[in-house]
Amino acid sequence: MDLGLKGKVALVPGGTGLLGKATARRLLDEGAIVAVCSRNRANVDSTVNELGEEYGPARVMGAAFNVDNRSAMNNFVKAIQQRFGTIDILIYSAGTGRRSTVESLTDEEMQLHINEKIFGTLHAIQAVLPGMREKKDGRIVVFVGQAGWHPQSDRLPSGITNAGQAAMVKSISDGVARDNVRLNVISPQYVEGPLLNFIIEEQMRKHGIDRKTSTFSYARANPLGRLGQPDEIASTAVFLASDAASFITGSTVCVDGGYHRYPLS
Ligand SMILES: NC(=O)c1ccc[n+]([C@@H]2O[C@H](COP(=O)([O-])OP(=O)(O)OC[C@H]3O[C@@H](n4cnc5c(N)ncnc54)[C@H](OP(=O)(O)O)[C@@H]3O)[C@@H](O)[C@H]2O)c1
Repeated sequence: MDLGLKGKVALVPGGTGLLGKATARRLLDEGAIVAVCSRNRANVDSTVNELGEEYGPARVMGAAFNVDNRSAMNNFVKAIQQRFGTIDILIYSAGTGRRSTVESLTDEEMQLHINEKIFGTLHAIQAVLPGMREKKDGRIVVFVGQAGWHPQSDRLPSGITNAGQAAMVKSISDGVARDNVRLNVISPQYVEGPLLNFIIEEQMRKHGIDRKTSTFSYARANPLGRLGQPDEIASTAVFLASDAASFITGSTVCVDGGYHRYPLS
């Protein structure tokens, strides 16, 4: 199926990380142009070099800055528009999941979460929206962890910010739908990679169990009975950003092997 993404321009904040880079690669596979950003200059350079070697340097660009910096985000968006003429797609994948309880959570940690998830998402959306509304075509996807819907005591900061990200997407999607700008959430769970590895190791330490037992406890937590792969999240993001999803907005798609149990949208 032709997803209609050839020549489309995509911004991927967090495009140097597990899910962001997998999505960047999938977009490039479909013929899109990709701009990634994250804080760490070395991460950005190595991602741009790696993707540039695979897909050609003319289709990849990058910048290093913190997504909490509104003017840096605005400048990067302008630079992408100057180089490629427009931005058609935003896939927001910046941030990570830190764990804290009501006893351990500090203001500094909460502020970090708010900056990278709430302000970062808001800055990116606000920077790309005017251009998308003007041309009556925009596709935005935000990765939001399930702690927003399944609050747990040790995931207090991500529970708060994830619920906020999802509410932001739903709220904005209502307001811009008549301009044919579509915003959707992807909610992944139990994807193989560093984040899950950290959780598996935490459980090994806490319960004195080996890696196989700890890993299996997560694999069997969903009906499909296995861990997900980054590419399975990426292909859903690319679908939602494509013409094939032209009647989908304001929705949350769980890519979690069937783990989630509540209707969302
Ligand atoms: N992996 C999963 O299983 C899973 C499940 C549910 C939800 N999610 C969510 O999906 C998103 C991506 O997850 P992931 O597994 O791909 O995480 P990841 O591998 O840790 O990647 C996170 C990316 O965000 C960048 N980043 C972090 N803070 C930033 C900031 N303040 N400003 C700019 N860039 C920043 C990181 O690069 P730098 O370090 O260079 O800044 C990296 O590129 C996160 O929001 C995560 O909570 C992931």
